[in-house]
Order: sequence, then C-alpha cells, then structure tokens
Amino acid sequence: MLAEPFNWQPGMWKMLIVVMCVALLGCLQAQELQEHVSIILLGATGDLAKKYLWQGLFQLYLDEAGRGHSFSFHGAALTAPKQGQELMAKTLESLSCPKDMAPSHCAEEKDQFLQLSRYRQLKTAEDYQALNKDIEAQLQHAGLREAGRIFYFSVPPFAYADIARNINSSCRPGPGAWLRVVLEKPFGHDHFSAQQLATELGSFFQEEEMYRVDHYLGKQAVAQILPFRDQNRKALDSLWNRHHVERVEIIMKETVDAEGRTSFYEEYGVIRDVLQNHLTEVLTLVAMELPLNVSSAEAVLRHKLQVFQALRGLQRGSAVVGQYQSYSEQVRRELQKPDSFHSLTPTFAAVLVHIDNLRWEGVPFILMSGKALDERVGYARILFKNQACCVQSEKHWAAAQSQCLPRQLIFHIGHGDLGSPAVLVSRNLFRPSLPSSWKEMEGPPGLRLFGSPLSDYYAYSPVQERDAHSVLLSHIFHGRKDSFITTENLLASWGFWTPLLESLAHKAPRLYPGGAENGRLLDFEFSSGRLFFSQQQPEQLVPGPGPAPMPSDFQVLRAKYRESPLVSAWSEELISKLANDIEATAVRAVRRFGQFHLALSGGSSPVALFQQLATAHYGFPWAHTHLWLVDERCVPLSDPESNFQGLQAHLLQHVRVPYYNIHPMPVHLQQRLCAEEDQGAQIYAREISALVANSSFDLVLLGMGADGHTASLFPQSPTGLDGEQLVVLTTSPSQPHRRMSLSLPLINRAKKVAVLVMGRMKREITALVSRVGYEPKKWPISGVLPHSGQLVWYMDYDAFLA
Ligand code: BG6
Repeated sequence: MLAEPFNWQPGMWKMLIVVMCVALLGCLQAQELQEHVSIILLGATGDLAKKYLWQGLFQLYLDEAGRGHSFSFHGAALTAPKQGQELMAKTLESLSCPKDMAPSHCAEEKDQFLQLSRYRQLKTAEDYQALNKDIEAQLQHAGLREAGRIFYFSVPPFAYADIARNINSSCRPGPGAWLRVVLEKPFGHDHFSAQQLATELGSFFQEEEMYRVDHYLGKQAVAQILPFRDQNRKALDSLWNRHHVERVEIIMKETVDAEGRTSFYEEYGVIRDVLQNHLTEVLTLVAMELPLNVSSAEAVLRHKLQVFQALRGLQRGSAVVGQYQSYSEQVRRELQKPDSFHSLTPTFAAVLVHIDNLRWEGVPFILMSGKALDERVGYARILFKNQACCVQSEKHWAAAQSQCLPRQLIFHIGHGDLGSPAVLVSRNLFRPSLPSSWKEMEGPPGLRLFGSPLSDYYAYSPVQERDAHSVLLSHIFHGRKDSFITTENLLASWGFWTPLLESLAHKAPRLYPGGAENGRLLDFEFSSGRLFFSQQQPEQLVPGPGPAPMPSDFQVLRAKYRESPLVSAWSEELISKLANDIEATAVRAVRRFGQFHLALSGGSSPVALFQQLATAHYGFPWAHTHLWLVDERCVPLSDPESNFQGLQAHLLQHVRVPYYNIHPMPVHLQQRLCAEEDQGAQIYAREISALVANSSFDLVLLGMGADGHTASLFPQSPTGLDGEQLVVLTTSPSQPHRRMSLSLPLINRAKKVAVLVMGRMKREITALVSRVGYEPKKWPISGVLPHSGQLVWYMDYDAFLA
C-alpha cells in the first residue's frame, strides 16, 4: 500500500512559516541562516516511542528550536495512516514541559511542536521515496537549507535491513547535509550474529552515520563519569589505580521480573540484556585511560576500545548465575511450552572481571544484575583501599578527616534509597568539583548508603533530572559520537562476552524465590579469579527429578586402564585429586633433589587444573619448580592461541615461579616461526639436557586428542615417535598446523606421566584406546609407556563411563 504523502494544507504552511519565523528571529542575532533538520521516528506508535522518544524529541525541540535550527518530525510506522495518526496524537497530547515553564508558554510550545509533527505510514519503497520528496518540497517551499536527517529505528532488529536499504536508496539528504541513523539494541546475540548485523548495516551506512544507542550512556550519572574524572584529575590522578582501588562494583538490580517479555528474555537472559551492554559501558568509562581532551569523541572511543583489549578472558568460574523461581512457569505459559520445560536462561548474574594493564592489574571489577531482586538500584561504586590505623577512639573521628572511615566514590545511576542520580564522594577522600548543572544534595535524615551515613559524603545531584533518551537525542543532534556504540566497540564487547555465554549455555542457574525472600541465597564471594555463591546450593526450590548428584556423592574410582592405574571421578573431584597428586610429587622431588621439573600440556583440559593449582595449593614449592612445555603451537608467545599464554593466564600470573625457571618453547626465533634453520627444537632439547638430570622430567602432564594424538604427536605423522630427537617439529591436521613437541622417547624417560582426559567428546577414543595395543603410528597416545617411570590415567566420568 502506498503511504499517504504529507498533505500540506495552506493553514499548516502558515503555521509552519510562523513557527519558523519565530525561530528565525531568535537566530538573527547569530546572523546565520536557519538550517532544517528532519527527524523520522520509525516505530512512532511503539512502547519506547510512547514512553520516552516523543518526550525526548519535544525536549530537543524546546532546547534547540530558535538556536539556528528548524525542525520537522515525522512519526512513522507500518500502521495505516488514520489509525497511526490517532495513536500518535494520543502520545503527543500527553507531552509535558519542564517544571519551571509557565503553563501558557508550555501550551504554546506544545502546540507548535504538534504542528511540526506528522504521522506517515512507511511500508514500501515508494513510501520512502514519497517521504524524501516531501522533505525536499518542504525545504524548497520554505527556502530552508538542509542541515541533516535523523532516522530513529525504534523497531525490532529483523526490520533493520529493509528500512536501511530504503533509506540508503531514496532518503539520503543532498550534498552538505548529514544523515544519522539511530539504532536500538539488541545488536546481535553473540559475536557472530553481531558481526553479521554490523556487516549488513555497513553495506548501507557509513560508520559515522550510525548511532547505536545504549541508553545507560544517557543516564546522567553515567554521562558524568568522564567529565567528573576530568574535572577532578588532580585528586584522582594518584588514586585511580590498583595501588589505591580495592574493587569496583557495577550493579543494576531490578525488582521487576520478565513477565510479558519472556519471548525476548528467553533468547537473551541477563548477561546479553544488561551486562554485555549497559554494565560493560560503565566499566569502560571507569577503567579507560583518560584522554587529554575528554571532549574529543575520537579519543574517548579509542581509549574505550583499549579497555576491551586489556580485559582478561572470562572463564566459567568467573560467573555465578541464578533464575527466579517462577521464570520457567512464565515461559511455559507465554511461549506455550510443555509442562516438562525448564529454562536455563539466567535472570541473575554476577561476573568477576579483571583488566590486565598496569593501572588495574589485580583489581576486581564486579558486574552484577538481576530481575526479581529486593530493590531497584543502579550504581558504579569505586571502593578505595584503606591502610590507615586511627589511634584516637571512634568518637573522635570526624567524617572529613578520619582515614579510618570507608573511602568510596559512587556514581549513583538511579533509584534505590536515594531515588535520584547522584555522585557521592567520601568526605575523607577529597572535595570534588562538579559542573554547575549539578548541585549539592540533601537526603532524608538518617539515610545510610554503602555502609556510611549520607552526611559522610559530598553528595551531588543534577539540577534538572533528564531522561536518558532525551540526553541521547540531544547528543545525536550535536553529533556526539562518543555517547554511542561504534561497530568496533560492539564487536569487542561481544568478543569478550561470547565465550562465557557459550560456557554457561548448559549450566543450570541457581533458583531464587524473588524479592526480599532471596535472603542470602544469591550472595557471592570471589578469590583468585573465581567467583562463587557464598552458600551451598540448598534443596531444590521446585520439585524436580531429584537433586542432582554432587561430585562428593561419588567415590573416586580406582582401576586400571591399559594396564596402568586409572583415577576416575566427576571432573571437579578428578581435578582436585590430580592437583593433590602433582603437589605431593613436587614436594617429594624438592625434598630429594632440591627441584621439581614439570612439563605441562596446553589445550582446554588442563585449564581447570591450572586454576586449581593457582588457587588452592599454598604449600606448592613453586620457588623450586621448573615449568616446561610439552608442546607449543608455532605462533608468537603473546598469541592467545599459544599454549604458553594459557599457562600464563591461568597459572603463572597467580603463583611465584622464578622467571629463570620458566621455559617456554622457542618457537619464535629471528622473527620467524618454527623455521627448521633456526633449530628451535634442538635449542629446547639442549636446555632440557642441561637442566633436567638425565632429561628425565619429574612429571609430564599429557592429554589425549579425539584422534588419539598426545602432546603434538599426531597419527599418520611419523615425526617424534621414535629415534634420538628429544624435541621435534610436527604437523597438526588442525590449525595452526606447525607445532613443536616433546618426542615420545623423551616423554617416556619421565619419572611420572599423568594423562588427563575429560569430557564427552573423548568417549569414543577412550573406549578405542582401551582396546588397542602399542601402535603409536595410528594412536600416538598408545606409545606412552615410561621406561622406568609410572603412568597414571586421570579420566572424568564423562569421558570414561561410556
Ligand atoms: C533494558 C533491558 O535495556 O534496560 C531491561 O532490556 C531493563 O531488561 C532495562 O529492565 C533497565 O533500564 P532502566 O533504565 O530502567 O534502568
């Protein structure tokens, strides 16, 4: 159906001209010609438009009309013209003016705004062409120069591509005028889908034309983070770092649940809905290096991106997840699922984030959000360390001086007991400076926040509270790109969150009753890079098929596998057992020989072991341990694919192994990777011969690939299976193909070899290898037979109980 073009009645022209003349008068002072901006709100009758966007546009009009710009507002949707017009009129009727505006003035302004706002149906390519014609006709008729056009996509993402195509082909403004398209989340579901969507949009729009909204960037307290850091540089410069910051909490608690929107929520969950975007944005604003000029959008965006580059990868153990108890029932009802359906979508998540740079190394950043919690509140809280001891008794402490009181800085985003956006600075930190749009505030008497009475803080709130969308509309109008999400920023964020989302996909969230009844159920703690619920999982809250078996419900199974001892258990228990055995071996070796030579494999299976060793083995003789690599990929050691990186991330950075006891494989020599001529394998072999008595490691940790490979010794590749060479270059069937590996003869010289096999993916090979004889050419793992040492298999039940 063709859209109804703007029907410009003579009366309306008159009104428009009057409005423009009034605006023009204001502009004469500036002695410049009026520039016209057309704003097209797509989804003009939808929820977001009704709740926030029309009000934001009205505010924009109040702020900007008469300052050299004239406007027209085109509300658009798929709804037929008459019905759409009625719906839109209802919303426009309820627009409100700022509190301090006189009612008569308000009525006048509103009337003018209504005159400039029209509904139109936008459905077909012709509709968009007609829109373009109308804008051009209007400009020509009123003799206006076009400044630009804003298209606000308040529509579901599946509609983006069609709209984008139409705008690109028929609604671009003429030369010299800008185009800004505004997009609302979700921007994808994971890294891959976000990339696809970004590529699609990139085929229609330039990067500078796209304004991806994260409405948290428009919240006044969030928008104040950088200006505050800038204006208080002097005080913060020495404090804003790992030496002074104890931890950072970025929190968004909600009391509402997901009822009524489970079709969206079931697909996204709290991490995608809130943490990946809102909380991550706040994190980058707190953590980024402050550019010299915080008004430079380019510099701000660049510095934000650098934070992503320094984020340490998340592990499954970095997060805890929960789900309010009635969620599954709501999903069953709203999405017509069978009674047996139980959702795994988290409605609560807490995640521990680390930033591996000089400023923040070791400082925990805690991101937490959830539905159906006991209160609605949002804040970023920077808690400073306190190493002062006060000699005088507490009654003599004064808030402004006592170094013994808590020291914190809070960007209070909204709600909570304070009920408004605020910036709070402990009086014993420094007296902050804020712009004149913020004023000192007083709260209700007796109010305590974050463990201190409000009177212990310098507390500021905005002179005029503004809704986030209204703030962002103003930033779009002024082309302030730093308040929006660039494609690079978006993909970096998804790149950070996607591995965690994948690792949690099958994890059952802890159920919680909701509201105050949650009690301490969701409290969590963190240490050594991991985060966990403080309390044990209680009885199941809903009747299920019986409580899930806990690892402790099973005995560690001891048996034989390929004639050698086998330790088998559920994965957690197995890892604990292996870590204990390694520690015991290490302690014995150090006692007897003064040192312990441990060769470790890479890949995913040992990660949990490394973490266990890093966090729970305080008696481990690290100072006397030499760490060697069993194999390595031919990539630079700094590459995330490198086995050494895995070791570094999960173990080395948490323990104190002397630098000279760490022996990465020399895969990168003379700026080349694994070139035969560089003799990297021979160099490593010489290093082993020189330092390890008889080239016999105290312990070699191996894995077993689904094809029967071990270390980087692959089936059908003869290298390294026999002969004199201790270290060899090999070829892997999967990328990166080039590898360096200890040879089987060297492995078999070890005093002890432990083979760790975990996960369902290993079931087939575990069963197969149990039956085969000594056939290293087909299954290199079958060639692992220490000459005089001991071989022990560690297999979890997923891999072994097939
Ligand atoms: C939205 C999420 O982005 O933010 C919602 O999709 C959430 O689930 C909302 O409720 C919270 O925003 P605010 O402005 O109410 O804090």
